[in-house]
Amino acid sequence: MTKKVNHKNALEHPVFNMLTQASEELQLETYVIGGFVRDFLLNRNSKKDIDVVAVGSGIDLAKKTSELLPEKPNVSVFKNFGTAMLKTAGLEIEFVGARKESYNRGSRKPAVENGTLEDDQNRRDFTINALALSLNEKSFGKLIDPFNGIQDLEEKIIRTPLDPDITYSDDPLRMLRAIRFACQLDFKIEKDSLDAITKNSERIKIISNERITEELHKILLCNTPSIGFSLLHQTGLLSLILPELTALQGIDEIEGQRHKDNFWHTLEVVDNISKTSDNLWLRWAALLHDIGKAPTKKFDKKIGWTFHGHEFVGAKMVYKLFKRLRLPLNDKMKFVQKMVFMSSRPIAISGEVTDSAVRRLVFDAGENIDELMTLCEADITTKNPKKQKLYLNNFKKVRERIVDVEERDRVRNFQPPVSGEEIMEIFHLKPSREIGVLKEAIKEAILDGKIPNEYEAAKSFMFEKAKKMGIKTN
Ligand code: CTP
Repeated sequence: MTKKVNHKNALEHPVFNMLTQASEELQLETYVIGGFVRDFLLNRNSKKDIDVVAVGSGIDLAKKTSELLPEKPNVSVFKNFGTAMLKTAGLEIEFVGARKESYNRGSRKPAVENGTLEDDQNRRDFTINALALSLNEKSFGKLIDPFNGIQDLEEKIIRTPLDPDITYSDDPLRMLRAIRFACQLDFKIEKDSLDAITKNSERIKIISNERITEELHKILLCNTPSIGFSLLHQTGLLSLILPELTALQGIDEIEGQRHKDNFWHTLEVVDNISKTSDNLWLRWAALLHDIGKAPTKKFDKKIGWTFHGHEFVGAKMVYKLFKRLRLPLNDKMKFVQKMVFMSSRPIAISGEVTDSAVRRLVFDAGENIDELMTLCEADITTKNPKKQKLYLNNFKKVRERIVDVEERDRVRNFQPPVSGEEIMEIFHLKPSREIGVLKEAIKEAILDGKIPNEYEAAKSFMFEKAKKMGIKTN
């Protein structure tokens, strides 16, 4: 694939000419390197962030480039890192001077020394990320590939330029990056690399949770996230990052009764949902929907294995997990909690789909009812085609009934048909418990289907109820 490619095609954007001009004026050796080159060669959607390395000062090159650009974009300089960044034509260009790096074991922060292009390529994470294209006039578009990254691209292999033990131990985030790229690109991680990740897995502890979750998000957003999660599991990283998940692994057997392996089941659910939804948080919900099963697992002689209340326990665990990983503790988390908490509801009603059960389901799920149904459908992982068809069909019926009930009763975003103020006015009441009781009774009557979700019906029901409660109109 890559042999016939004209590498100059990667550099068609006019901004590259500016970079060339700036490099020549400063007499700097300059290259485009990393993800931009990789993704061009893989024919992936062209990246909007471009890494440029100069043998010399990246900051000077950035400033010169800005001068040459008609709009003279602002250059952000990160002096401590020796890097600079500018934005132009919807692109984000990151400039860095070629460097040699040595790391100390306690942190990811390297001690930096100026170096050659080769030094710079050596310190990169993977051979496929160390490919460089020359931006200088004489060699414009020439590919510099000292580690045979092109071959690794063709053979779909993740490999480190140096001894993997060094590359991963230098910057343990790369262990997650290797797995993320394997998952995103459907590549294999070369055996020595995989062994080195396993050996160095504990070093993930020096990586901030923000960076870890950034990679987890990217894995979750892949077409087949289970590729990434299996690798995380296999290398021992998952039990360090998400022990709640690995706790689900295994099948117990007592008196000949077994339960399914909820870890592998979960990964199947995540893959399933990834076929139908790109919603990151729904994918998180799929990943976490069963985490309450490990702490609630019990064996009952009469009914076998049970996981009573796992949805409630799981939803609580979501909060702790989000807090630990520094995931947002906002409406996204509440959404995931809600999905986990409600994940068994549609299944519970799918046997006998009564109107009132559907109405309550829609009421409780509110605007997230569609996502909840999508999660439940993804949760079907039986290998028995008959059962699969039956379950899917049951959910189809639930969905139809949801539409039906919605049309009639509109309980999705339920607003009480009679407001608290009106109740106070009619019965000359001050804010009090009675008002709450009346409002709740109206809501329950609607959800039970005793009355339609309409103003007049709700009002006459309210009068009846008030009478029974001994509340007078005047
Ligand atoms: N890099 C590295 N080690 C890291 C992170 C980045 O060696 N821990 C190098 C790689 O050469 C990488 C380049 O820096 O290609 C740019 O990194 P980044 O922008 O984070 O990733 P990309 O490879 O561009 O890919 P993506 O945007 O998909 O993350």
